[in-house]
Amino acid sequence: MSDAPGPDTPAVIEARDLTARFGSNTLFRHVSFDVRRGEVFVILGGSGCGKSSLLKLMIGLVPPAEGRVGILGTDVWSTEGAARLALLKRLGVMWQQGALFGSQTLLENVEMPLAEHTRLPAAARAEVARAKLGLVGLSEAADRLPSEISGGMLKRAGIARALALDPPILFLDEPSAGLDPITSAGLDALIRDLSRSLGTTFVVVTHELASILAIGDRCIMLDKEAKGMIAEGDPRELRDHSTHPTVRSFFRREAA
Ligand SMILES: Nc1ncnc2c1ncn2[C@@H]1O[C@H](COP(=O)(O)OP(=O)(O)OP(=O)(O)O)[C@@H](O)[C@H]1O
Ligand SMILES: [Mg+2]
Repeated sequence: MSDAPGPDTPAVIEARDLTARFGSNTLFRHVSFDVRRGEVFVILGGSGCGKSSLLKLMIGLVPPAEGRVGILGTDVWSTEGAARLALLKRLGVMWQQGALFGSQTLLENVEMPLAEHTRLPAAARAEVARAKLGLVGLSEAADRLPSEISGGMLKRAGIARALALDPPILFLDEPSAGLDPITSAGLDALIRDLSRSLGTTFVVVTHELASILAIGDRCIMLDKEAKGMIAEGDPRELRDHSTHPTVRSFFRREAA
């Protein structure tokens, strides 16, 4: 078990002066932050402000218009070839639309990244995949198809697949979207447990206030109108002390 990370914990992600733009549509400008090793770092903001896009800049899928991203000491956008692939392989991702393959069992879905990126023999792959399903509480469902399990179980299976290669950093885009509050709280507890027991760093996009307060060590908030970052810090402190009207209204559930 690792303790909660503090201000002296080293950064595993360094985002500096990031600007995201699609054509003439600038989503945000000059966004800078650190993600510390072992923390649950939450990205907040209204629909369309660029949260998923920010994840894509961080993991090397969409180039930033300006700025840079360092992950585990490597500059994502100036590194090329094998070194870049090696870095990206170390990142676990569960996308907002992150569907599993419907014709494959949960076990086969979790085995997939292992088949693609390791030379483990089949029996060892199955063993690792079973262990990952066990971590997310799905041992009993290993042989079921995605269509045979609930939405909450699908999210857990997505997390198991993202954990397959033991990534030091896991990115989750809206993990609790579409789940009922109790299932969502269960998923929050799982994220918290995995973070503290595995020491994995989590970067989580969400706009569920209950989740943010339950899992977030620190957060940033993006804003569509401001085209940038309007808050950074401990979500509980932002809730209690922020004077920014949009941040206040979000945390206090008031209309701006
Ligand atoms: N590849 C792309 N090409 C052009 N425009 C894009 C692309 N990806 C995203 N956008 C635009 O960027 C804006 C922000 O999209 P993004 O998905 O990052 O928002 P978001 O904050 O994740 O929203 P949500 O909360 O609804 O998931 C949207 O207006 C979207 O249409
Ligand atoms: Mg999104």
